[in-house]
Amino acid sequence: MSAKNTSPNSSLRSPNSAAVTLHGHLQSLPSDLAKLIESFGLISLDMQTQFPKYLGGSSGDKNKYGEATAKLDNWANGYMCDALIKTGLVRTIHSEELREPLYHNDTAPFVVTLDPLDGSSNIGTNNPFGIILGIYRDDLPQVGRKLEAAVYKLYGPVNTLVYSVSGGDGVHEFVKHYHADGHAEFLLLNKNIKLPKKGGVFGIGANPADWNPRFAAFAQGLHAKDGLKTRYSGSFVADFSQVLHMGGFFSYPATKKIPDGKFRLYYECIPLSFLCEEAGGASWDGSASGDSVLDRIDNDVDARTPVYLGNKELIDRLKKEMRK
Ligand code: F6P
Ligand code: MN
Repeated sequence: MSAKNTSPNSSLRSPNSAAVTLHGHLQSLPSDLAKLIESFGLISLDMQTQFPKYLGGSSGDKNKYGEATAKLDNWANGYMCDALIKTGLVRTIHSEELREPLYHNDTAPFVVTLDPLDGSSNIGTNNPFGIILGIYRDDLPQVGRKLEAAVYKLYGPVNTLVYSVSGGDGVHEFVKHYHADGHAEFLLLNKNIKLPKKGGVFGIGANPADWNPRFAAFAQGLHAKDGLKTRYSGSFVADFSQVLHMGGFFSYPATKKIPDGKFRLYYECIPLSFLCEEAGGASWDGSASGDSVLDRIDNDVDARTPVYLGNKELIDRLKKEMRK
């Protein structure tokens, strides 16, 4: 399968014929899972060709979290949900941008969580944004450990897709290439990605004046002791991609004003924490019990959670420093 390219630059890229395609790479997986991941990739390519039509600001609507949505948020959600349903593989879609879950086909194998456009505040400035998909066989709510697979798509200067499956062989990254005939395809860029041992960057959201003082001291230490550089893009997918490749730390913490944090447990934090842990990193939900985000129990699929993720030593140190 491949998506038709409409870019004027299509003839500039001619992938090496020996390159590993996403399609080929997925062949060791159960066929239904392979088909769903590949379909998600192709849908995300098709979508991008239409982004310029939907750039014009706010939709005028609010989502279930009371947040004003961008035109592109609503369009991306509708497009992705319709296309996922057409695969025949999805039983239920839980989306950040749907007021109720979309129940479709009782006999289809998968339940998915969707953040159809992560980092909407970057649309107007042409900064990166992405899509986050969580794939389960069981109905939700479930602990994140029950994830079958997680996938993110990052629309940056190049277009990447990163996936990992439960019990699989790690986290793999693919990049969109164009064939000479104008068809686009994902080719393997990095296999079995591991966070570098020494972290390189960190990004932290929320107002620093509202951070817990212990957390603020830890954050300062990331600069002063660990020599990490600050990087905060306004898109969780993009910031996570930096931590995955360069090592380091990302958080949208709990503060007095937002004790449950800002990010969505199911739509955002579970899939990216799964990828982080599969790449040798760690995640924490801020709880006193020190749980990984993947062990957080919340029966509300729309719940928020504080999130802290990155190199394991940094997460362990943070947990210790927050307890002092
Ligand atoms: O989905 C939430 C989100 O858009 C993330 O992608 C991003 O990291 C964050 O919110 C940005 O929030 P803020 O504007 O508060 O920094
Ligand atoms: Mn998001």
